[in-house]
Amino acid sequence: MGTGISSLNDVSSIAVIGAGQMGAGIAQVMGAAGYSTLLHDQSAEAVERAMQGIAKRLARAVEKEAITQSDADAALGKIKAASALEDLASADIVVEAIIENEAIKLKLLGKLDEICKPETLFATNTSSISITKLAAGTKRPDQVVGMHFMNPVPVMKLIELIRGLQTSDATYEVIRDLTLKLDKTPVTAKFDYPGFVVNRILIPMLNEACFVLQEGIATPEDIDAAMMLGTNHPMGPLTLADFVGLDTCLYIAQIFHREFGDSKYRPCPLLVKYVEAGWLGKKAGRGFYRYDQ
Ligand code: CAA
Ligand code: NAD
Repeated sequence: MGTGISSLNDVSSIAVIGAGQMGAGIAQVMGAAGYSTLLHDQSAEAVERAMQGIAKRLARAVEKEAITQSDADAALGKIKAASALEDLASADIVVEAIIENEAIKLKLLGKLDEICKPETLFATNTSSISITKLAAGTKRPDQVVGMHFMNPVPVMKLIELIRGLQTSDATYEVIRDLTLKLDKTPVTAKFDYPGFVVNRILIPMLNEACFVLQEGIATPEDIDAAMMLGTNHPMGPLTLADFVGLDTCLYIAQIFHREFGDSKYRPCPLLVKYVEAGWLGKKAGRGFYRYDQ
């Protein structure tokens, strides 16, 4: 304990694990901020897709004159694919953004504990899992912290910071400074109760939209139109659920139901059915809507 990196000045290399929609965005903003960034996923295809997506988004930003070609080249040059977990040994900070599953995250953190140098900090992008529990599964619990990016990462200004019971002040401060370096705004959850701030409020709303659909009260289009036109949300709740990923929404709802033990958090059966069908939302080509094109 107490050996962790204690200043952002000592950070030059970042590893991002999980190259799905969140990991790809996280690697992009790290590269854009000038950090040597390694991107790893258990699926080589996911890393390949993520690298292509990053290149495409940076090219669009150049087209729109939001950044220069040399900014885009510099950012892209900082991001490298890592085929093996062992390649991440020298990273100063590891951000994990793999599937929202406690057992799988704990297994990964256990492996990283063996691979990474003792001073490496572990940040988790979990949407709802206890930081305290994830930290307790490592030999460096004081160096584990929640760093919850919002989707789409390059666009959204917020990063929720979540302290586990064991998170040291030094670890928290380094990750807070990193958040500011990424030009994001931190909001801190003082306790790591399930869902922290954003998802504690958001996921019950998305789940309730599924109940409104299940009960036949309105069509998906009308539910979304009602919330967009009636409450000025940029996306309706069913479109947003598709965008987040219905599997991720369900995992979070299940954690709330289990951990709070309150029936008000029970996942909507229709949401469960969609996930069973593999209709996971935009990333799968079908959710409440179709994304065949
Ligand atoms: N990745 C990166 N950039 C994206 C993007 C993506 N997937 N989708 C859109 N963008 C960018 C566009 O390139 C565009 O950038 P410029 O302004 O630089 O041109 C900008 O976002 C606006 O895009 P569009 O004009 O195409 O579309 P829009 O105005 O409808 O905005 C949106 C798209 C930003 C996604 C907007 O609909 C929105 O804010 N939706 C709500 C998003 C939200 O609530 N996110 C939080 C989800 S919850 C969460 O993340 C936590 C969790 O744990 C589940
Ligand atoms: P995703 O399904 O798009 O991607 C997950 C990736 O993790 C996949 O590419 C998968 O191959 C990889 N993976 C799974 N197990 C792995 C392992 N053991 N080792 C390496 N790679 C592994 O999911 P996502 O939407 O990017 O979500 C990732 C994390 O971010 C989750 O914890 C989620 O709760 C959180 N999150 C999601 C959102 C969102 O809107 N989708 C927002 C904020 C936070």
